Amino acid sequence: MTDTLQIDIHQIEKSRIDTVDFDNLVFGRSFADHMLMVDYKDGEWQTPQILPYGPISYSPAMMSLHYGQAIFEGMKAYKNAEGEILVFRPEENWKRLNKSAVRMCIPEIPEDIFMEGLSQLLRLDAEWIPAKEGCSMYIRPFMFSTDEYVGVSPSKTYKFMIFNCPVGAYYSKPLRVRVETQYIRAAHGGVGFSKNAGNYGGSLYPTKLATDAGYDQIIWTDAATHTFVEEAGTMNLLFVIDGALVTAPTGDTILDGITRKSVLQVAKEWGMEIQERQLSVKELVEGIQSGKVTEAFGAGTAAVIAPISTIGYEGVDYQLPERTEEAFSKRVFTEINDIRLGKKADTRGWVMKI
Ligand code: COI
Repeated sequence: MTDTLQIDIHQIEKSRIDTVDFDNLVFGRSFADHMLMVDYKDGEWQTPQILPYGPISYSPAMMSLHYGQAIFEGMKAYKNAEGEILVFRPEENWKRLNKSAVRMCIPEIPEDIFMEGLSQLLRLDAEWIPAKEGCSMYIRPFMFSTDEYVGVSPSKTYKFMIFNCPVGAYYSKPLRVRVETQYIRAAHGGVGFSKNAGNYGGSLYPTKLATDAGYDQIIWTDAATHTFVEEAGTMNLLFVIDGALVTAPTGDTILDGITRKSVLQVAKEWGMEIQERQLSVKELVEGIQSGKVTEAFGAGTAAVIAPISTIGYEGVDYQLPERTEEAFSKRVFTEINDIRLGKKADTRGWVMKI
């Protein structure tokens, strides 16, 4: 990273911050004053700009609207007791964005543009970072193709952008999830590991069927046999089975979640047995019935640690035990939360201070 990256800054004239009710933040509905925008053309990334947050206009033939060359990331910033800005593991998001970029034929974004652009943007909108417990600044970096062209080929122009949202909880209660056995999220050789827009678009219909039936989310299963648990689309899935932490190996069909890997690292340090292995739905529901499965939870940037209360499968609802104070998912949430808020020493080098 260099200190000399030039960024053109065009500040807002008047902040909109007074229009936001910081005591009742919902997820993803409020947007901070500024956004970062960087163009890619003539084979290189141009000078980054910070602009007032607002609409951008494009041709109806913009390629990303038609062929889905669009990828994104999600990360979070907080303020510590001294009012300093802390971002949780941003270099992991930068690396993952570039993995998605390679798969989608989008040019990789250099580290200095990502990190320095992010830092400058957060400094400008520091007032927007919520201080309230349970709230944070959700950061949305994304890239998309911008050529005006109707042929199917990689675009020659792109944009990299970041905007920020002060947010409350994504999920506010334990989740009822249904195992999906008809539709699929990702198959081997596909794009399931990448954070591209189409993975989310394809999830909407089966998720709607599940929410219409009274569930909050779906559990995706493997595309070939619908036998094994994969992820939940908005988060990775983890289970405590006979005291061990069990989660699907990420491979090429599952997003390599940053919260997931943080949870695994903490569990390992705490001496817990980790099993990154295939878990069949049969083993899961039988384990719930026999009491072997004591916890089920999701892990993701937006979701953080989201306890699961109920798993629906083939018309039957399997009820997880009530979460205790000593539950692993509760303890690991506290550990990660304390680190990202700067309440606990960052011994793992997870926090970038801005
Ligand atoms: C995130 O956790 O950052 C995601 O992108 C998931 C999405 C449901 C907001």
